[in-house]
Amino acid sequence: MPKAYRTSITTHVEGKPHVYGYDLTKLAGAKSFSAAIYLVLKGEMPGAEAEKMLDAILTISIDHGVEPASVVAARNIYSGGSPVQAAVAGGILALGEYHGGAIEAAMENFAAYQDRGPEALIADFKAKDKRVAGFGHKLYERDPRTERLIELAREFGFEGKYVELAKGVEEALRQAQGKNLPLNIDGIIAALLLEMGFDSKVGKGIFIIARTPGLVAHVVEEATRGKPVRRLSEEDVEYDGPNPRDFDN
Ligand SMILES: CC(C)(COP(=O)(O)OP(=O)(O)OC[C@H]1O[C@@H](n2cnc3c(N)ncnc32)[C@H](O)[C@@H]1OP(=O)(O)O)[C@@H](O)C(=O)NCCC(=O)NCCS
Repeated sequence: MPKAYRTSITTHVEGKPHVYGYDLTKLAGAKSFSAAIYLVLKGEMPGAEAEKMLDAILTISIDHGVEPASVVAARNIYSGGSPVQAAVAGGILALGEYHGGAIEAAMENFAAYQDRGPEALIADFKAKDKRVAGFGHKLYERDPRTERLIELAREFGFEGKYVELAKGVEEALRQAQGKNLPLNIDGIIAALLLEMGFDSKVGKGIFIIARTPGLVAHVVEEATRGKPVRRLSEEDVEYDGPNPRDFDN
């Protein structure tokens, strides 16, 4: 009779939880949280350099201000009286393809165009009039987080063919669009996760893991310093619907 689930991630051995064969009670105190995240997502313990690279990715993504859609969503949900878990979950739901949710698609693109190169990628996307995941930013001409992660990738030995491709796509996109659409945090993380041998299906999860502490902090701040019910003022809103009118009876 087949079992309801088949998993290779976690089991109990002699009453102790083991993740991919490692006793969690021994990992705690011996390995970092980043190493444990790498283990649970990849099934193997990272080397020292991979651990530092993933740690840098997670650290640099932890928060990015009140302004992003996910934080506004989370704080507004809490201010309406919903519990912490609903507000944080609401923030995570706002991590879509334009905000924090572009890593998976960027990984798929970089993997698919590794052989054909940046010009082919841009030509295909331009022909379909599609945005290229991992490029462009509302704030930055050059994303300082990207620049720092490239520096660290060089130091830790992960500045390989996918980072080169991502930089090539940035340049090809600039030429095709006639404007600067910088390699953003999602794009460089995508290239680095490929360099580290991750499956593209971890892409969205990596950003969720990295940004959730920031979302929790914003919700806790809302809980401890905010007042119930955030509401825009009418001055923030432009109404362009019909003037008052009567209905026929
Ligand atoms: C992040 C993003 C929403 C920022 O957008 P923005 O700076 O406000 O730019 P706009 O949405 O106003 O777009 C301006 C123009 O640049 C184009 N553009 C923006 N990002 C583009 C991209 N990644 N690929 C191709 N064209 C892009 C738009 O199509 C638009 O063209 P148009 O003027 O001919 O209509 C946008 O760059 C994007 O969608 N990027 C892809 C998704 C992504 O990587 N998200 C993760 C962000 S960290």
